[in-house]
Amino acid sequence: MRHLIDITDFTVEEINRILDLGDSMIADPAAYRTCLSGRILATLFFEPSTRTRLSFESAMLSLGGSVLGFSSADSSSASKGESLTDTIRTVSCYADIIAMRHPKEGAPMAGSMKSLVPIINAGDGGHNHPTQTLTDLMTIRREKKRLDHMVVGLCGDLKFGRTVHSLIGAMSRYEGISFVLISPPELKVPAYITKELADKGIPFREVETMEEVMPELDVLYMTRVQRERFFNEADYIRLKDTYILDPDKLRTAKADLSIMHPLPRVNEISTKVDDDPRAVYFKQVRNGRFVRMALIKTLLEDMA
Ligand code: NCD
Repeated sequence: MRHLIDITDFTVEEINRILDLGDSMIADPAAYRTCLSGRILATLFFEPSTRTRLSFESAMLSLGGSVLGFSSADSSSASKGESLTDTIRTVSCYADIIAMRHPKEGAPMAGSMKSLVPIINAGDGGHNHPTQTLTDLMTIRREKKRLDHMVVGLCGDLKFGRTVHSLIGAMSRYEGISFVLISPPELKVPAYITKELADKGIPFREVETMEEVMPELDVLYMTRVQRERFFNEADYIRLKDTYILDPDKLRTAKADLSIMHPLPRVNEISTKVDDDPRAVYFKQVRNGRFVRMALIKTLLEDMA
């Protein structure tokens, strides 16, 4: 039995197979409409979510399976003091696969040790978010027809942004990738990530403005300042509008730049950018459903 806790739990070949399956599902969704009939997905969300939880549920329903779960810790026995591992042991008696989101880093890993069924990390605190990364990889591959040889700019809250951490881990394994990390000094990528990049000899630069690097970028991955992870509101207010991408800032960008965002957006991208053909954040949303279909089917059938 396999889990997906960290994106590097899967080899590059395994990821490519999931992306291939996701592409086939987009091309012919009807062919997969009943393939998981009788199977149950549980979504255990101890933290808020729109896209991740609903895309998991939509994915399972699109494969003919069923879903159950909860969307906040308040409506689960966690509010009575039940431990996470007891909750997971229990739910793994009711479902064939579990997608869970939790505010504590490492919670899905702890859960996977007691689970009778595959666990998917749907976001653990400010740590990792591997299924958003599958969505991002699928989007980049569909847009660029490759996942290697490009300059990837990541902008915003690189400290607490879990999608950024997982995406760097995944893209680092493809050839010819270099990263431009755009953030205020307070929100730089954690040191363990830059150390890993340095150790592996992967080129990266840390800068404070997007203007200075815009012409070089093949991908610009914008992120929200993660208010819920801040220790005090004053720091959040000071930093929240550091970056606002607008049409003016895109004047020097490449014609085939891909502008990405895991969403939800607050202020980081002006709605005036939405109609720019380079804006692919709503395509990401759609890809997220299909790549999760591919992931669930793979964990339940091919990796079981
Ligand atoms: C992200 C998350 O939850 O980490 N959202 C998502 O899953 N699409 C990004 C965010 O909340 O800013």
